[in-house]
Amino acid sequence: MSFPVTQANPSRISQIDFNQLPFGRIFSDHMFVADYQHGAWVNARIIPFSPISLSPAGAVLHYGQAIFEGMKVYKNEAGELLYFRPYENYKRMQSSAIRLCMPPVPEEIFMDGLKELIKLDQAWIPTGKGRSLYIRPVYFATDDVIGVKASENYTFIIFTSPTGPYYTDELKVEIEKTYSRSNRGGTGYAKAAGNYGGALYPTRLAQQRGYNQVIWTDAATHSRVEESGTMNLMFVINNVLVTPSLSPSKLAGITRDSVIRLAQHWGMKVEERDVYVEEILTALENGTLQEAFGTGTAANIAPISVIGHEGKDFRIPEAGPETFAGKALHFLDELKAGKIEDPFGWVAKL
Ligand code: COI
Repeated sequence: MSFPVTQANPSRISQIDFNQLPFGRIFSDHMFVADYQHGAWVNARIIPFSPISLSPAGAVLHYGQAIFEGMKVYKNEAGELLYFRPYENYKRMQSSAIRLCMPPVPEEIFMDGLKELIKLDQAWIPTGKGRSLYIRPVYFATDDVIGVKASENYTFIIFTSPTGPYYTDELKVEIEKTYSRSNRGGTGYAKAAGNYGGALYPTRLAQQRGYNQVIWTDAATHSRVEESGTMNLMFVINNVLVTPSLSPSKLAGITRDSVIRLAQHWGMKVEERDVYVEEILTALENGTLQEAFGTGTAANIAPISVIGHEGKDFRIPEAGPETFAGKALHFLDELKAGKIEDPFGWVAKL
């Protein structure tokens, strides 16, 4: 598929200090845009990154039909562009779209738009440890009609941001037992903007108590752990990798799946199952909990250093390079940057 390209002139790249890349604050020169109007995809184009206009009656502002994805692209030493499991993001966006009653984005719009955009802005891909070009596909309703119904018009945009790590401080998380991220039958498995909006207030309360993030528990009983902040959650207990099994209330993380498969590839025992708050507290108390970490595209593999529960803090042993999290982080970083062989077929050159 081909589409018109309007070049950013001049490029902003010379104004960027690539030694300082706070997460998600710097945006590359261009964006890919396609519109869905009354049953057809039209007007696919690449234009300079810029604000968009939307009616105050725009459906997304009122009824929340907005979904997004997060992916990363790397450059290897030969200058080739390496994407990490991009079709998994595409498939997840389709499943999020269905849940939010939005027409799925055709594969050629998603993939060809992505490919052309990254080719054009490849000079923005930072190299070096923990650095990449973060890709943010976002898809939202644009009908300007007041009235609760699925929109007939939508816009799909892909834009990118050169970036370093998402979590830079020590990660202290609190087990959340009042609020929940998603109920059974809700939108928890979709990458819906509303899931993140609803998480902000409980997260702020936890931050006021000195934590950076919460560990979400199931909405019905608050007895099982689900996710942490913007990440899936994993523990190493008695040398077994333990992680909450997927369910309709949890996001099916691509990094989560990659870490599980890597652990299995290394011969480690993995348990995907219900994980109870009580068993985590017991394992923290008796010292059998060796590691706790979150996984996500933005977060990568982020070691948790403190878990708080009802006013009591438990410190977790430091995640050195010899821990499972340390080794997995190193392996996946090297794999994504094309520095080692890819035994899984996860790295794509689109
Ligand atoms: C990601 O991990 O890519 C996410 O989308 C999480 C967050 C930055 C919202």
